[in-house]
Amino acid sequence: MDRKISDRIRYVGVNDHSKVIFEGLWPLPFGVTYNSYLVIDEKIALIDTAEADFSREYLSNVREQAEGRPVDYLVVNHMEPDHSSLMKEILDIYPDIRIVTNAKAVPMIRGYYGITDNIIVVKEGDSLSLGDTALTFFMAPMVHWPETMVTYLAEEKTLFSGDAFGTFGAVDGEIKDSGARLCGWLGETKDCFPAFSDEMTRYYSNIVGKYGQTVQAALKKLSGLEIKRICSTHGPVWEKHVPDVTARYDMLSRYEAERGVCIVYGSMYGNTEKAAKALAAELAKRGVKYSLHNLVTENVSYAYRDVFKYDTIAAGAPTYNNDIFPPVYNFMYGVSARLVRNRRFFAFGSYTWAGASVTLLNEMAGKLGFLLISDGQSFAQGYSADKCDMASAAELMI
Ligand code: FEO
Repeated sequence: MDRKISDRIRYVGVNDHSKVIFEGLWPLPFGVTYNSYLVIDEKIALIDTAEADFSREYLSNVREQAEGRPVDYLVVNHMEPDHSSLMKEILDIYPDIRIVTNAKAVPMIRGYYGITDNIIVVKEGDSLSLGDTALTFFMAPMVHWPETMVTYLAEEKTLFSGDAFGTFGAVDGEIKDSGARLCGWLGETKDCFPAFSDEMTRYYSNIVGKYGQTVQAALKKLSGLEIKRICSTHGPVWEKHVPDVTARYDMLSRYEAERGVCIVYGSMYGNTEKAAKALAAELAKRGVKYSLHNLVTENVSYAYRDVFKYDTIAAGAPTYNNDIFPPVYNFMYGVSARLVRNRRFFAFGSYTWAGASVTLLNEMAGKLGFLLISDGQSFAQGYSADKCDMASAAELMI
């Protein structure tokens, strides 16, 4: 991989094709990157580090790209361990390095790694000269942790954005978006943004989704900067697609979605599943976009992706212990935890002797401020179109 982003910026991150589950929760069918960068001037600054499992490869990248010169500064934009785990190893190689971060990160650096010395604390708008160039720091709390900040290199119009504008997916070929390919992508596109698009939405909805308000605040703050390149901590370096990725984050953080239906369901003996599939078929007949997620067998991250993508949620659950079938209840909890708003909602599900799930799903949706498109479809025992009218439901979703 060509690691030269520009004369002054080098990519020293790593591709992870091995990790199966990110944060112990989210599958990685296409892998993930841990991005880190060197800014080379009279002084050299390293922006963030990488995940611990990649120490040998990562440290080799740093040494090679620094071309034998010592690294003077380690800028810590974000303390989550996928970006900070190799701080001690960097300090071992460069004992005179100074850590540059903000006050909220200092106790985290001590708590995670026992490091207390050689720390320069910066605040909003502070700059650090590297020679001909300077790094400027802007606080971006809760994008995605409270200590998060971003670093701007004005001479290159480059934003080192931390997790913001990041995406799941290891990057094949080049790291720049003009030549990057999503690992394992089978699509025909030669343009990487469509390939990364769904994984970016899945990354945002699962990792950052709760923090729409603070993402909006950060976007507003950064709107005054001229940005021609975004170097985030995950995914390609964005140049060609800077407008696309900023528009995507703006839309997602405002909880705006396109017309379409995210159908989720759990099923014990297949009756609620038949209803879910009947709804999908009726939507297909009417040309309405939809996705279908079995929450018993599929990781919920894909459903959360589509909750952020589509403006309608159709949730199907049998009644279980006079309550909502647990996987669907857990899904609704996650929707609530992400503070999702401005959605239409439709509930359906089967019961055997007493129906409760549809009423309870509607109550949960009502508390979230969702618009109920009907009272839902609750049916006893086996599914049939007579007992569960999905054609009418689909009409309401057009
Ligand atoms: Fe990729 Fe919030 O760390």
